[in-house]
Amino acid sequence: MPTFHTIKWVDPGLVSMIDQRVLPHQVVYNEYRDPAAVAQAIKDMVVRGAPAIGAAAAFGLALVPVHDTSDKMETVLADLKQASEILRQARPTAVNLSWAIDRILALVEERNFKSVAQLRDVVLGEAQKIALEDVEINYSLGSHAQSLILDGAVIFHHCNTGALAAVDYGTALGAIRIAHEKGKKIFVYLDETRPRLQGARLSAWELLQYGVPFKVVADGASGHYMRTEKIDLCIVGTDRVAANGDVANKIGTYNLAVVAHENKVPFYVAVPKSTIDMAAPSGDVIEIEERPAHEVTHVGNLQITPDNTPVGNPAFDITPAKYVTAFITEDGIVYPPYQENLAKLFQ
Ligand code: MRU
Repeated sequence: MPTFHTIKWVDPGLVSMIDQRVLPHQVVYNEYRDPAAVAQAIKDMVVRGAPAIGAAAAFGLALVPVHDTSDKMETVLADLKQASEILRQARPTAVNLSWAIDRILALVEERNFKSVAQLRDVVLGEAQKIALEDVEINYSLGSHAQSLILDGAVIFHHCNTGALAAVDYGTALGAIRIAHEKGKKIFVYLDETRPRLQGARLSAWELLQYGVPFKVVADGASGHYMRTEKIDLCIVGTDRVAANGDVANKIGTYNLAVVAHENKVPFYVAVPKSTIDMAAPSGDVIEIEERPAHEVTHVGNLQITPDNTPVGNPAFDITPAKYVTAFITEDGIVYPPYQENLAKLFQ
């Protein structure tokens, strides 16, 4: 259905990514042949969204054995390690980044490669597998969500969690897209999602292509709509879920969850298992990325604050588990108590 790709491998050795900084007005694909350039693209948010960042890191690593000028195994392995460190540091909050890197490194460590060509095939094969699995997992997660998205549902959504945030489908917006594909008459309120406007720019662009009816609203409007209209549910994605069910997601998610709770609107978090970090006991240990001030002081190239205005720009917040009605995963829906029930997903 979508006419675009978020990220794909192009033989013999390029990573192609749609430049999400210039959407929706320009559709531009950038090609990368260097893992450090992929890391920079993640930092600059050419590619963003937890699953997409994981796939980008995996393909970024695959570039190493493809383009390495050395045919010595030790050199290529050292280069792979170095690239993994550069990629790992690109953004701190989404756990999919280190999840994808660790998955590839673990595979490399457990094998004894006969040649660099064999190493290249294994690393690229695993990156392709991560990308393919992402689409399957998101579709499965979106299918499980259907028992919660009834015909006629009016839904609140935050940020962009669709195909642009993944390899395809995405999580929360993927569930919304599947509901529409199944013929359900739904309506979606899209938070614009200041400061980078992922809702207004990216989710709106996606829903227009799928033909899902929606309107974009200012972030601060959710309370008004929940108090005055019949909103059936909120559904959001996440960058990391802690073992106790605390949720790191795009800044403003916490506000939305509290307002939903106050108005008795169910608040669902769509999460592939790769985004659940059982090593994080609670949201308190999750690093929240602080982004550059110009994202707040400027809209596009237009400065909206006085010169030298002090700015805070946390890219994410933590929503305490008590505000989450349920998690929607590829294995099914998880209800409280989360400490116990999230752990069961990994048994
Ligand atoms: O800063 P971004 O645009 O990368 O933040 C994206 C989000 O917060 C998404 O909700 C999250 O990554 C889940 S995407 C399926």
